[in-house]
Amino acid sequence: MNEKAILKVNGQEFELPIIVGTENETAIDISKLRAMSGYITLDNGYLNTGACTSAITFLDGENGILRYRGIPIEQLAEKSTFTEVAYLLIYGKLPNESELKEWNSAITKHTLIHEDLKRLYVGFPKDGHPMAIMSCMIASLSTYYQDSYDPTNPEHREISIIRLLAKFPTIAAFAFKKSIGQPSIHPINALNYCQNFLNMMFAVPTEEYEIDPIAEEALDLLLILHADHEQNCSASTVRLVGSSLANIYAAISSGICALWGPRHGGANQEVLEMLNEIHDSGLTVKQVIEKSKQKFSNFRLSGFGHRVYKNYDPRAKIIKKATYKVLNKLGVKDHLLDIAIELEEAALTDDFFVERKLYPNVDFYSGIIYRALGIPVNMFTVMFGMGRLPGWIAQWKEMIESPDMKIGRPRQVYVGPKEISYDDAKKGG
Ligand code: CMC
Repeated sequence: MNEKAILKVNGQEFELPIIVGTENETAIDISKLRAMSGYITLDNGYLNTGACTSAITFLDGENGILRYRGIPIEQLAEKSTFTEVAYLLIYGKLPNESELKEWNSAITKHTLIHEDLKRLYVGFPKDGHPMAIMSCMIASLSTYYQDSYDPTNPEHREISIIRLLAKFPTIAAFAFKKSIGQPSIHPINALNYCQNFLNMMFAVPTEEYEIDPIAEEALDLLLILHADHEQNCSASTVRLVGSSLANIYAAISSGICALWGPRHGGANQEVLEMLNEIHDSGLTVKQVIEKSKQKFSNFRLSGFGHRVYKNYDPRAKIIKKATYKVLNKLGVKDHLLDIAIELEEAALTDDFFVERKLYPNVDFYSGIIYRALGIPVNMFTVMFGMGRLPGWIAQWKEMIESPDMKIGRPRQVYVGPKEISYDDAKKGG
């Protein structure tokens, strides 16, 4: 398409190129606008602003479509594994058999963390939120790898990627063990990614722990579904921090902080707390829905709504189905699932939610599965982070390897005081 957009402003006309994506998404390229016209654009919350082109994930929010490297999420959920999906996202293609073997083996061999790093856990209070611990520990990893974390060096990038994927579950499980006063359980190389995590979370040194294949399968599925979601708040944070050429541990640590918020990944913890509150306080579903509609209340129906999806989140669809299956197979009956279903039905028929196209998102049902696996509520967002890690890495790598990479540095429209001298300001003038 050679079409151009014409911008008329202040009696002048400017031609702006139109960029068309592979799925026919269109954008007006304003990168030269300020140089040509002196104007910038303003877009609070980036509702209309593309910060990059990307070949990783396609998301069509109107039609509820999500694809990693072109492959529909439904097919990956059914046929792939988390580590294979991680490879796909990071390297842009599915690995062949020997590549996958090598990849899994590389990750397996880097799961230990330095013994000295473990001492950091001692400084955290017992009930310190694990997202704070994760962010701190991941940033601290960089202190052990100062000779191999240069983002402009391809070999450094490769080893850092492996280290991060390998050590994240170990760091997460150790944080949990610390919070309950149990000794940490070391990773075991004979176990796969999810088995290892479950073992580090739930085994104790005093007896055999049998890993439930149903739990392993459920965890693998949840990690796949969380693995990437294009330019969301945490991925954009990772890109922004990484664009200063800070090392990848620093960039991922910032992504963890961004994910923590309840409008983003922290919503999975909030959903469970909300469901529990409904159960314990005797509030009706209708009362909760009404409260979430109040304009000036900060309360929102957690796990509902999405910036991009104006349709049922395809991940939520898969997770809802899996919730029944997993609970059934594990023989778990959870009263919170009944409340969630009632809440969903009430919201989907409520005019406020219908008009605003607010549907359940990935966080609405995931917590019920995590709960059935024995994962505590304050670890839910850590689980989201473990899943999202390959996406953050892929986004970071794509940016760093792009010849067009620039430091991320938005502009602003200044609306503060006009120039005033120090003396006049002091006089209150
Ligand atoms: N409950 C009640 N009202 C809502 C909700 C909700 N969950 N979500 C949006 N609205 C209303 C909002 O009040 C606004 O109403 P009005 O037009 O009258 O002012 C309208 O819907 C549009 O909301 P918005 O905040 O302008 O939309 P956004 O695209 O900026 O926000 C969101 C998206 C996900 C932050 C928001 O839907 C939300 O806060 N949801 C609850 C938190 C949540 O579940 N977050 C997880 C998102 S999915 C996973 C992830 O990305 O981490």
